Amino acid sequence: MSYLPTLAPLDIQAHLADQDNKSILRFITCGSVDDGKSTLIGRLLFDAKLVYEDQLANLGRVGAQRSANGDDIDLALLLDGLEAEREQGITIDVAYRYFSTSKRKFIVADTPGHEEYTRNMVTGASTAALAVLLIDSRQGVLSQTRRHSYIASLLGIRHVVLAVNKIDLVGYSQTVFEGIAEDYLHFARELGFQSIKPIPISARYGDNVIANSEKTPWYQGAALLEYLETIDFDRQEAQKPFRFPVQLVMRPDANFRGYAGQIASGKISVGDQVIVAKSGQRTSIRSIVTYDGEVEKAVEGEAVTLVLSDDVEVSRGNMLAAPGARPFVADQFQAHMIWFDPSPMIPGRSYILRTETDSVNATVTALKHQVNINSFVREAAKSLQMNEIGVCNISTQAPIVFDAYKDDRTTGNFIIVDRISNATVGAGMIDFPLRRADNVHWQATDVNKGARSAMKNQRPAVLWFTGLSGSGKSTIANALDKVLHARGKHTYLLDGDNVRHGLNRDLGFTDEDRVENIRRVAEVAKLMADAGLIVLVSFISPFRDERRMARELMEKGEFIEIFVDTPLEECARRDPKGLYEKALAGKITNFTGISSPYEAPENPELHLHTVGHEPISLALKIEEYLDQMTEEK
Ligand code: ADX
Repeated sequence: MSYLPTLAPLDIQAHLADQDNKSILRFITCGSVDDGKSTLIGRLLFDAKLVYEDQLANLGRVGAQRSANGDDIDLALLLDGLEAEREQGITIDVAYRYFSTSKRKFIVADTPGHEEYTRNMVTGASTAALAVLLIDSRQGVLSQTRRHSYIASLLGIRHVVLAVNKIDLVGYSQTVFEGIAEDYLHFARELGFQSIKPIPISARYGDNVIANSEKTPWYQGAALLEYLETIDFDRQEAQKPFRFPVQLVMRPDANFRGYAGQIASGKISVGDQVIVAKSGQRTSIRSIVTYDGEVEKAVEGEAVTLVLSDDVEVSRGNMLAAPGARPFVADQFQAHMIWFDPSPMIPGRSYILRTETDSVNATVTALKHQVNINSFVREAAKSLQMNEIGVCNISTQAPIVFDAYKDDRTTGNFIIVDRISNATVGAGMIDFPLRRADNVHWQATDVNKGARSAMKNQRPAVLWFTGLSGSGKSTIANALDKVLHARGKHTYLLDGDNVRHGLNRDLGFTDEDRVENIRRVAEVAKLMADAGLIVLVSFISPFRDERRMARELMEKGEFIEIFVDTPLEECARRDPKGLYEKALAGKITNFTGISSPYEAPENPELHLHTVGHEPISLALKIEEYLDQMTEEK
């Protein structure tokens, strides 16, 4: 994932370039918090004399203050410059380390083991060929090991080293080692790894890390470093079809137009035919420009500017690709998704989906199942909680360009970003496009919205009333409806309680059901506005995300959010339906304001305080707002 720090910083690249003839093995380490990942990498770097002097000096200082295991130097401290980690004693972000031996170069992503840091593991694993999975000999295979293995396999990692660590603490026991290896091999059978290599090690004492240990005479295999130096990991990148996500259109003057980006896969030469993925237009490469001037060809990973032979339309977010092996262009697909965030993934909710090329609004239209990482059993689920993995159908607002993840790890992955916090909340691997997207097209109709609203002599609007149960939404909406109707306006009032008797009869009050409730009513309101009506929607609609989704469904200026603001205590005192009494007695679950959240609007068009005001006067306020808006038009 190029938006994540998958490549080493520049000086490291320069260093690596010096040794161009050697292969690079990218790997990750994973394990639980105390399994000793950082100590292991520290040991690899330290014993192989790969630590730089200044790092050592610094280490002596910090290590003297805090050496957890009584060694002279705490090797784990080598690995992180992050203060936070030193303070908390856990790794909080992905640390990329590089080292090289006479046989091979290595880039290792040290990924955190804490349960809630799956996010970092995904970041580190997305370009790795191999995973070193640490297991504490005293504990054996844990659910964390299984989760990390499953994710590694999902992310396309094909080789695993099972580092059975702390073997010193079980008396260098062959039986313990073999028991763990057998357990793991049994578990991992279905994950499709090409190789799994169990090695008994002690990161702390260096047994079987750099060289074979005398303490484990029963272990005949290679020590870890030797294994990493010699393993034959597949590198098929060169055979993959050309993929070039356009990151920037370069137009320094009228004579030059080039497309800048990084070659995601494959290779390209001057004269090669390419197609513009989204339009299917075909052209060829006139020149390839780099920082060092023009070149004849370029390969995966290189940042170049491509100049095309024809004047075709290509904008940022599009992709140039090999004509004989086109990527998919679709707005619906199936994907495996891993969720990172404490607040769950809810189908129907709108998120930002970011691929190598695109950034679009997207929703999960169906969560087909969740995967139980211990048994691989598919389980029905309505949402994905933190660290859970599921298979989903996803729908994007506009078509995107992609490949199946199994064919291309760069163009087949995406991340999910929360629209409000901007945090990365999930990651996914695309399985395949959904064909039904190809066969359903928008049907243009001759009698359109403009004609319909002109006939009604009004401007369509969606008046969205939100507020707690009993806040007065329906009463005010009803009063306004009467006023508008009396003035000859064509209106329709959609009320939560009523719609829940028909269209939404199947929905309850869990977060998932409320999201779906609002999604459906927003779509209905959109149709009604399209019919030229003034629609009054009176639903608690407790979540900001869905109110925003509703807003974005409508035309600009058409959605008017009205916050009916009544304090909870007042709603409970009024209690028109006797529901607060029941909810407070625990007889109704998920009751808004009591056992389910209400997220107050931040910027509503109208904020109505109901205490001390008659519903009719509040309704007239809304009418006034509507009149003003129509005048401004
Ligand atoms: S929403 O949260 O999904 O927008 P909606 O407006 O459709 O809710 O329905 C709310 C109405 O359902 C309330 O006015 C109340 O009469 C009734 N209701 C029944 N159970 C609950 C509950 N657990 N939480 C809130 N309202 C409930």
